[in-house]
Amino acid sequence: MDLPRPFTIRERHHRIHNPFDDTKLATLGRAITPAPGTTILDLACGSGEMLCTWARDWQITGTGVDISTVFLGGARARAQELDVTDRVTFVHGDAAGYVAAEPVGIVACLGATWIGGGLDGTVELMRRSLAPGGMLLVGEPYWRLEPPDQATVEGCHAGHRDDFRPLPELVERFAVLGYDVVEMVLADQDSWDRYAAAQWLSVRRWLDTHPDDELAAEMRAELDTAPVQHVRYQREYLGWGVFALIAR
Ligand SMILES: C[S@@+](CC[C@H](N)C(=O)[O-])C[C@H]1O[C@@H](n2cnc3c(N)ncnc32)[C@H](O)[C@@H]1O
Repeated sequence: MDLPRPFTIRERHHRIHNPFDDTKLATLGRAITPAPGTTILDLACGSGEMLCTWARDWQITGTGVDISTVFLGGARARAQELDVTDRVTFVHGDAAGYVAAEPVGIVACLGATWIGGGLDGTVELMRRSLAPGGMLLVGEPYWRLEPPDQATVEGCHAGHRDDFRPLPELVERFAVLGYDVVEMVLADQDSWDRYAAAQWLSVRRWLDTHPDDELAAEMRAELDTAPVQHVRYQREYLGWGVFALIAR
């Protein structure tokens, strides 16, 4: 099991695989101020930037689970770089159904709520690893502006407008699921660009060095359209944020 190559071609240089930049990630840490020694389980951890930097900045200990061997390689290298290998562990595996052996203080899933079949199922999956009184961190898209047509919906990588909620409805949903929203940090258009626009340079450099690769035509076609698609649709209509939740 591994992440399909187009993702790693686009995002192999990313440390954060969602519309946060490093400032937003640090803001989230300051917002929730995890106590030293807090245990964190990060489902679909990507390249482990949250766990590694928070191990350095907040002395947390953490486990990250992801299917991407490329991203996990980056996570382990980052842990070495930040000298936190004694505090973070990265596991290659399917996060769908992953439950910690011992309940943890924080369970995170930033930008991968498909692992539990959607938001509700993922919150329930996360709850199963959470110690009493612990905190969930859920990273989720929402409609920043109401999409006017199906082209906009699809331009935001959704099949149907109901795939995402407007922000007030997303926040209401957490209450329906039995949680207080106790903090949130939202992406902005500049941090979206750090996620999306940074992929274009990675793809272009890959194309320049892999002209005969079997994926070259597909990646070339993607680079032809991705920048306009981003500024026309995603950058305008799609928001993204991390919501900190504590059970009522
Ligand atoms: C949008 S990225 C977010 C990564 C990370 N949370 C971050 O914010 O940088 C989604 C991640 O989900 C991982 N992923 C996708 N399906 C998965 C699964 N079933 N189990 C574990 N990881 C998965 C991908 O490899 C990718 O790293």
